[in-house]
Amino acid sequence: MRVLGIETSCDETGVAVYDEEAGLLSHRLHSQIVMHQAYGGVVPELASREHLRNIVPVVHAALAEAGVSFKDIDAVAVTEGPGLAGALLVGILYAKALAFALGKPLIAVNHLEGHIHAVLMQAALPAPVLALVVSGGHTHLYLAIEIDGAWSYRNVGRTLDDAAGEAYDKAGKLLGLGYPAGPWMDALAAHGNPQAVKFNIGNVKQQAGGNQFPFSFSGIKTAVLRYVETNAMRASIDARKVALASIANATAQDALPRCDAMTLDLIASFQHTVVQYLARQTFAAAEAFGAGSIVVSGGVSANRELRLRMAKEAAERGLPIAFPAMALATDNAAMIGAAAWPRLLHGDFAPDAMNAAPQLRLGGAAVG
Ligand code: KG4
Ligand code: ZN
Repeated sequence: MRVLGIETSCDETGVAVYDEEAGLLSHRLHSQIVMHQAYGGVVPELASREHLRNIVPVVHAALAEAGVSFKDIDAVAVTEGPGLAGALLVGILYAKALAFALGKPLIAVNHLEGHIHAVLMQAALPAPVLALVVSGGHTHLYLAIEIDGAWSYRNVGRTLDDAAGEAYDKAGKLLGLGYPAGPWMDALAAHGNPQAVKFNIGNVKQQAGGNQFPFSFSGIKTAVLRYVETNAMRASIDARKVALASIANATAQDALPRCDAMTLDLIASFQHTVVQYLARQTFAAAEAFGAGSIVVSGGVSANRELRLRMAKEAAERGLPIAFPAMALATDNAAMIGAAAWPRLLHGDFAPDAMNAAPQLRLGGAAVG
């Protein structure tokens, strides 16, 4: 049995072929990052149009790479939400039409569940699994439980304001780095002193409604802005912005010689604070719920310091921890195919009226 997975929730057109026995046969991505870079963020209308332009070629490329054709596909899986409405609609309409034409079932996948399965597809982990899903749009803690091959989730923590990746992107943009700024900050942080700037983060009271391990990232974003103003860093930021804009496909390596020690220390301190905070809340939740293992996924899970810091503490606590392969940390369709698999086995198919769900949540809130 084989599933064709499709992901179009944001700015990546992803298609993957997932096989019952061989696992992932192929996964292809068309990234729109270069197009959105010019605007400093994803432009939803442009994202939808790009998905429409690319969905058919990316499907063909994924099938070719897997060495299969449409007749070898047993089900079509697609991201239902959360994400950008117009972007989601492109993938959903294509998937519906394809499933109808092939006479095969359609499976709706929650994007956040997909991020968790980007890890579960490569490692069997002791239950219950405590998953930190940390990306540009989300910072969530889930308790994931499998019963007879079917997964269910309890949302035991979430951000009250910005997502961690969003904080990275906003702080990096403020410092004149490229978009998305997360990977730039990651690369540059290694060149600064992480103890140089003291940030206060995470003094958020426990929330009602099951958000027992809340996050907040709006404060550190404002603190970076204040630090920039207080230390008169504007002129050097503007100079860096102009210099990087004149370089085609600029990277963090181009930014490095254009960052002074104060900027590098600020970036390193920002990252250190965010990483400590994510680790603190995750391990506190793991302890509170008696987690058997930890999964860290989503775009920010590509962060090197986060991986090192969390792997070290997990080892000290004797807790197994797993991260996605680097290529599967950010949005992709392999995770959609993998998350669809248990649904296919349980005959859990999407109704004909399935629609884009931009605000889709994963799992119920924890009680007690
Ligand atoms: O999962 P993803 O591709 O899309 C969403 O569902 O949001 O995550 C993208 C986010 C962006 O905010 C990006 O800056 C961040 O992940 N990111 C990183 C790193 N790589 C990607 N943040 C910190 N360090 C990284 N190495
Ligand atoms: Zn994502």
